Amino acid sequence: MTKGKVVDLFCGAGGASLGFVKAGYEVVGAVDVDEIALETYGDNLCEGGLLDDYDGDVMFDEPLRADLGRGYEDPPTDDDDIPQVTFEDIRDQFDLEPGEVDVICGCPPCQNFSSLRDTEPWPEDEPKDNLLRAFVDFVDEEKPDVVFFENVRNIIRAGEENPTTYIDWLKRSMKQIRRDGDSQTSGGYGVDLDVLNTADYGVPQRRERTIALFVYGRNDDEFSLPEPTHAKHPKLSDLKQWKSVDEAFDEAEELKQDLEAGREQVDIEDYEDDEAHRARNHHQSTIDRMKAIRRHGDSWRDLQDTDDEEHIVDAHMDVDRGAHSAYGIMDGDLPAPTLTTRCTTPSCGRFTHPSKNRGLTPREAALLMTFPRWFELPSQNDAAERVVGNAVPPEFVEALVSRIPSHVRSVALGQ
Ligand SMILES: C[S@@+](CC[C@H](N)C(=O)[O-])C[C@H]1O[C@@H](n2cnc3c(N)ncnc32)[C@H](O)[C@@H]1O
Repeated sequence: MTKGKVVDLFCGAGGASLGFVKAGYEVVGAVDVDEIALETYGDNLCEGGLLDDYDGDVMFDEPLRADLGRGYEDPPTDDDDIPQVTFEDIRDQFDLEPGEVDVICGCPPCQNFSSLRDTEPWPEDEPKDNLLRAFVDFVDEEKPDVVFFENVRNIIRAGEENPTTYIDWLKRSMKQIRRDGDSQTSGGYGVDLDVLNTADYGVPQRRERTIALFVYGRNDDEFSLPEPTHAKHPKLSDLKQWKSVDEAFDEAEELKQDLEAGREQVDIEDYEDDEAHRARNHHQSTIDRMKAIRRHGDSWRDLQDTDDEEHIVDAHMDVDRGAHSAYGIMDGDLPAPTLTTRCTTPSCGRFTHPSKNRGLTPREAALLMTFPRWFELPSQNDAAERVVGNAVPPEFVEALVSRIPSHVRSVALGQ
């Protein structure tokens, strides 16, 4: 018997879905608007046999391409053929009965809350123009036992110049949801919400995310998010040491570790082909810059006041726009920094390989996001880094949802 039926909203290429499957859940529906992400989802999670090693499964042949915005914000594409959907439409698409879904997983996109953007005050007492509102509407239409919510760290502060923050609005809205027949005191969603670091749950990446676990009909103090399993300095605790970049790469069987810029793991003696292990073909000046940075340290700042200062470009100085870590070299002994949707592009962050003068390959980025080695990635670099950088690490989700305390599961999931 599986742990419950999940619908994954804003499913992307399926990082969160895969985590649920590994934890023993059945994913019964998944929706997103990004065509390439959905193709990646279908190729990996809906193809027969690939998930056989896990207790859970994905129960449909292909995810649904739809706009989940419900008209609250501008359509995400100018493609008129993309329908806007309600939860009833999602049920129809995946052949689900009302009330059949145990868990809604939702990772609405985070642009409005990212640290690089200003948050505008909204005119009245609630956010009007974002996907959080749409997300609450979906939950209200199905009212599942459990809702798993993931977002950027900064959503905690977003809206603080308003009468209420986005998060307080979300909690309040979820608390007001009632199933038929429930009273003011018995219904609504209780929540445990925190900013968690994926490295503390065994992911070889320091990625801080706001995670909320909502459970219907429970008070906030009746359940909690699972405790970390790993730490930077475990000392005498039972916790394990953070997993490093080097460990993650070493574990990947037959990953050619010394791949040079411009090469891919295809037709190399003793190595099985892996087209996703392809390194970008950097311009010689980029390679020279990486070499110079490595000579002096691990960041463009280490070039200041040296005879290699010529390798600093003006763009690096634009630190207000997030250029602190451009061309930075990853420390192989630590978990990776947060991988973004540009995580194979050295100019966009600390994404230079720990020992080679090139950016990460899509395969390396996917491993640091805990996608399994067999996971196929888009053939275009931009699409590959986007779907990987957007993902919720599957092993992070697995660690959280497989350890939802049993008393929550037994009440909330009816086991
Ligand atoms: C943070 S990513 C989700 C990652 C995914 N949960 C995973 O683990 O791989 C957010 C997703 O929202 C999707 N998205 C953005 N706006 C949307 C909309 N209006 N309707 C449907 N999906 C949307 C994006 O295409 C993107 O895949």
